[in-house]
Amino acid sequence: MLAARAVRPLDAPPSTGADDDPLQFLEVAEREPAPVPDAWVPVRVRAAALNRHDLWTLRGVGVHPEALPVVLGCDAAGTTEDGRDVVVHAVLSDADWAGEETLDPGRTLLSERWPGTLAPVVRVPARNLVDKPAELSFEEAACLPTAWLTAYRMLFTNSGTSPGDTVLVQGAGGGVSTALVALGAAAGLRVWVTSRSEERRARALELGAHAAFAPGERLPERVDAVLESVGRATWAHSLRSLKPGGTVVVCGATTGDAPAELNRVFFTQLRVVGSTMGSRDELRRLAQLCAATGVRPLVDDVLPLAETAEGLRRLEAGEVFGKLVIRP
Ligand SMILES: NC(=O)c1ccc[n+]([C@@H]2O[C@H](COP(=O)([O-])OP(=O)(O)OC[C@H]3O[C@@H](n4cnc5c(N)ncnc54)[C@H](OP(=O)(O)O)[C@@H]3O)[C@@H](O)[C@H]2O)c1
Repeated sequence: MLAARAVRPLDAPPSTGADDDPLQFLEVAEREPAPVPDAWVPVRVRAAALNRHDLWTLRGVGVHPEALPVVLGCDAAGTTEDGRDVVVHAVLSDADWAGEETLDPGRTLLSERWPGTLAPVVRVPARNLVDKPAELSFEEAACLPTAWLTAYRMLFTNSGTSPGDTVLVQGAGGGVSTALVALGAAAGLRVWVTSRSEERRARALELGAHAAFAPGERLPERVDAVLESVGRATWAHSLRSLKPGGTVVVCGATTGDAPAELNRVFFTQLRVVGSTMGSRDELRRLAQLCAATGVRPLVDDVLPLAETAEGLRRLEAGEVFGKLVIRP
């Protein structure tokens, strides 16, 4: 079947820098995916969203080397063989793991060890399926499992904020950032964003942000929480934008690692909270939230699977506002 795969050679070292063109290791071709455990159930993929995670996988970051070449893609919405419309939870924990899925030390995301969603069919454990609300299109539902679930947990589980508080979202146009703006505004938070681009700052305001600033700009007042996915380019600004006792929730470091600034952290009693994906239960609640409130993932464009390379090129170039969706 046609699938988009990472075909990075085993002897190529992982690269975290922009010096390495990740697309050189992308192959979109007719190939059979690697086998998965017999008990896993097939889901016909109706829509799959792209994530920066796919670029990391092409760079050899986070992927199990023995899984290569591997079908890319963490996100899917689709239909099971018995006609159930579902959203696929991308976090694969051990079948014997009893706790919250993301805390299993052996957990992986789809495409890190097992074939991902950029193919007509993905196979996953039955427990990883969540009902797709009828109110959401397959394209919208496909955006939920990674970027939107991560944003949900950052805001509602980890930021410690309440309606009326002010949060700063670093970056405006990304998958996680647009989810943070839409969900935060819907939940009654005052949402401020930064972006490198004036046009993207304007679009963030249309999406529900209450103010938008250039990177590093001094804010009118300090905020209760900062939601970080950018890393080195924004980290210092994040720490100095927080009120004493404020919280920075960090889910990623697109621009690389940053100095921790320990003196500022202890002196102003900041809380630094790491956040990764979300549980199946959080995914269910996120889907219900979208169905009930009318909040919807912002889909920038929908491309056929054969055009995955063009989608990933746009993502790498920072040309996407919201989510890019692939239709196998
Ligand atoms: N821990 C987890 O579970 C988890 C889940 C999802 C994502 N992530 C990570 O979170 C990060 C964001 O993911 P994504 O899918 O939202 O990526 P994305 O769609 O590519 O978005 C990238 C974001 O970074 C901002 N940005 C990029 N370069 C920047 C720079 N030099 N200076 C300032 N801002 C910059 C962009 O803002 P503007 O273009 O508006 O300036 C944009 O908001 C990635 O590193 C990803 O791996 C982690």
